[in-house]
Amino acid sequence: MAKVVFSGIQPSGNLHIGNYLGAVRHWAKGQDDGLNIFCVVDMHAITVEQDPKVLRENTLSTAAFLLAAGIDQEKSILFVQSMNADHANGGWIANCNISMGQMSRMTQFKDKSEGKQFVNVGLFDYPALMAADIILYSTTHVPIGDDQKQHVELARDVAERFNSRYGETFLLPEPVVGETGARIMSLVDPEKKMSKSDPNTSASVFLFDEPDVVRKKIMSAVTDSGAEVKASPEKPGITNLLSIHSEFAETSMEDSERQMQGLSYGDFKSKVADIVVEKLKPIQEKYAQIRGDDNKLLETLRGGAKKAQEISHKKLTEVYDKIGFVS
Ligand code: TRP
Repeated sequence: MAKVVFSGIQPSGNLHIGNYLGAVRHWAKGQDDGLNIFCVVDMHAITVEQDPKVLRENTLSTAAFLLAAGIDQEKSILFVQSMNADHANGGWIANCNISMGQMSRMTQFKDKSEGKQFVNVGLFDYPALMAADIILYSTTHVPIGDDQKQHVELARDVAERFNSRYGETFLLPEPVVGETGARIMSLVDPEKKMSKSDPNTSASVFLFDEPDVVRKKIMSAVTDSGAEVKASPEKPGITNLLSIHSEFAETSMEDSERQMQGLSYGDFKSKVADIVVEKLKPIQEKYAQIRGDDNKLLETLRGGAKKAQEISHKKLTEVYDKIGFVS
């Protein structure tokens, strides 16, 4: 069975070093292993209010950052979800193979809808579209954060239900939850994950942050009492900064700790800032170059969508036929 990896990422203007270190960097490194498909999920994004201008910009900037971080359109497939209508069509098929009860048990809906005045059905139904994203490509592996595991399990159930009703059609995908890389935490509250939706912008180093902003954020990151630069559960702030250092330097935590031994917190932070600035620089330069020509970027994305559709359309045609749709 050929390895097929499918990763979906929400269009966001706020990609941060946690997204890069925890996900995107590993996606880029894994590109020689099997077929890798990367999708900017703009259709998922409209389950919450989106300003059209902002959505367009965030879709392009997210795609550009993926390319700048090493996603290679020659080796892999990068495209935007709405460019391939098979996702919407497959989402409907998924819908008709999920029970109300099962969809009602999705915990992310509860979190995302809580306290909102207006909640659209798409937000509730989000996992059906996500199931289609995954199973239309005979995906074997889905790298995701912990919060998405339940959705991948639902995708497996959709595949199983369809297969048992209509005969063997879909593969069952495996969720791959953060096997590699450290969890990067907020710089302001190191007990919390660094998050795109954190209203406090000092909590995250964004991929587009200028060197002086990166330095300022890291120098004012929350540390812990004591003076020793050492990773431990009692020192979440220092541990987080050590993780950031070791991830960017591609060394072990122990190695980073050894390199920082005897430094004051201030000198330690300044070394962490140095490496973050150094490693973001080539990504930012490449990003600027890609965004210098949005027409070319769109062309690349359309090319990716075409390749994606060659795969998804075959599967969808088989599905339509099995269901009894005439063509
Ligand atoms: N729901 C995912 C998230 O919010 C994004 C996503 C959409 C996705 N479709 C996917 C992830 C398919 C993996 C596979 O992070």
